[in-house]
Amino acid sequence: MTNMTRRDFINAGSALGAGALLAGSPLGFAIGGKRKKRLVLVGTGVRGTSFWGQFIRENYSDVAEFVGLCDINPGRLEFAKSYIGVPDCPVFENFDEMIATVNPDLVMVTTVDNTHDEFIVKSLNAGINVVTEKPMTTTAGKCQAIVGAARKSSAKLIMGFNYRYGDLFTRLKEMLIAGDIGEVTSVDFNWYLNNYHGASYFRRWHGIREKGGTLLLHKSAHHFDLLNWWIGSDPVEVHAYGGLEHYGQNNQFRSKRCTGCPHADNCEYYWDISKDEKMMKLYVANEHFDGYIRDGCIWRNEIDIFDKMAVQIKYANDVQVAYSLTTYSPYEGFRLAFNGRKGRLETWEGVPSLMEVQEDQSKLHEKEMDQSAHTKAELQYHEIIRQSNFGKFERIMNPFVRKAHWGGDPIMMDEILRGQVANPGLNQGSDYRDGAMAVLIGIAARQSIDKGRAVKIEELTDLKPRENKWA
Ligand SMILES: NC(=O)c1ccc[n+]([C@@H]2O[C@H](COP(=O)([O-])OP(=O)(O)OC[C@H]3O[C@@H](n4cnc5c(N)ncnc54)[C@H](O)[C@@H]3O)[C@@H](O)[C@H]2O)c1
Repeated sequence: MTNMTRRDFINAGSALGAGALLAGSPLGFAIGGKRKKRLVLVGTGVRGTSFWGQFIRENYSDVAEFVGLCDINPGRLEFAKSYIGVPDCPVFENFDEMIATVNPDLVMVTTVDNTHDEFIVKSLNAGINVVTEKPMTTTAGKCQAIVGAARKSSAKLIMGFNYRYGDLFTRLKEMLIAGDIGEVTSVDFNWYLNNYHGASYFRRWHGIREKGGTLLLHKSAHHFDLLNWWIGSDPVEVHAYGGLEHYGQNNQFRSKRCTGCPHADNCEYYWDISKDEKMMKLYVANEHFDGYIRDGCIWRNEIDIFDKMAVQIKYANDVQVAYSLTTYSPYEGFRLAFNGRKGRLETWEGVPSLMEVQEDQSKLHEKEMDQSAHTKAELQYHEIIRQSNFGKFERIMNPFVRKAHWGGDPIMMDEILRGQVANPGLNQGSDYRDGAMAVLIGIAARQSIDKGRAVKIEELTDLKPRENKWA
């Protein structure tokens, strides 16, 4: 067993892999200038008000200030002002009016997924830097429009791919660059959403294909971007299978929502939203404005996304990936392995039988979103198993960081708002091309399931896959 400190490891990695490192970040938005950056936020839901709202106000007020908040729901806008802690910030129900009025330096997009493109394209056309939550968008046509606007604009589109900055994921990237297992030839990646977190997508707008593009976009965009970044190449072809066999119409009873549901006592998925004060203030109190129901029934007939997905991806550098996503697992976690010419690197998270601990699965996701709490039974390490071909296995105990998306949220924000690049050479900052390549895998997978054939990435937009994505 090896107990390497992170510092030892980085020293070893940079000595081995310095020649392969690429310097710089596509962002650089915050570098230079003494004036505070003027921020506007569009989409004052849970992610907007917390990470892109309160977290920024509490930690970056020395370099940035909120000059506008926008949402189509006036009740959520009022809540956002007080929750974020900017009671005097101007609020707008119309994005164009906000942009024309407050002269922002950065637009932050945290709306429903299928609306991101509108705010991205408008910002780029107006020459305003914009950062968007994943997925960049939900269709090939919208993706092409964003790519076109980004090419023409003097402003930057920054993707909020926070997973890239996560401690475990960064460590894996360093090991791959260092050549620990030689040239990577294939990757096995399985992601498990538990019966609480997985079900939550089917309660919300995410369960409607038109809104979130299916979880192949909404959720897997994170995973596809990690794969693209680790592998360092662009995807060229995707073949996928998917089904909806658990949620939606796959139950004997259904209702409109959990609140007041006559089947509450018989439904293992019943969720009492009234126990969560923020959920009540953000959504239930503002339902009368837009009719959006946050505790929708997971058995609603209208649900039309997949709840099990298997995706094969071929890359321009010939790496191939076997990926899967399930949404009703007894536990939340993943298994991940890189196969290289010299050996294999693998890791996992959340598997109760390996941890020898059965955690309360209902609390895990809440803690993931929290910027201050750890989770996963207070484990001390993520284990990474490295085994060379014909050699013995070695267990590398990486300090367990899980809060705020494996610790990635604040590191990414430091890069965006302070221009501080934590790991120069790892290319953690991401731009419109990264955003596009992640969603194009999801869109190709969705089309592949619908059409029953492999789909080439080149069929979808005019972007040409590159063997080295940073070339
Ligand atoms: N990176 C991450 O780890 C992470 C985590 C959670 C959510 N997200 C992303 O954040 C985004 C928001 O998710 P959420 O969970 O906060 O959803 P949410 O439903 O809580 O919030 C979305 C908000 O957008 C508003 N909205 C919808 N259409 C609009 C429009 N046309 N103009 C202005 N406002 C509009 C809604 O009224 C709502 O207030 C999503 O894109 C999601 O993928 C990312």
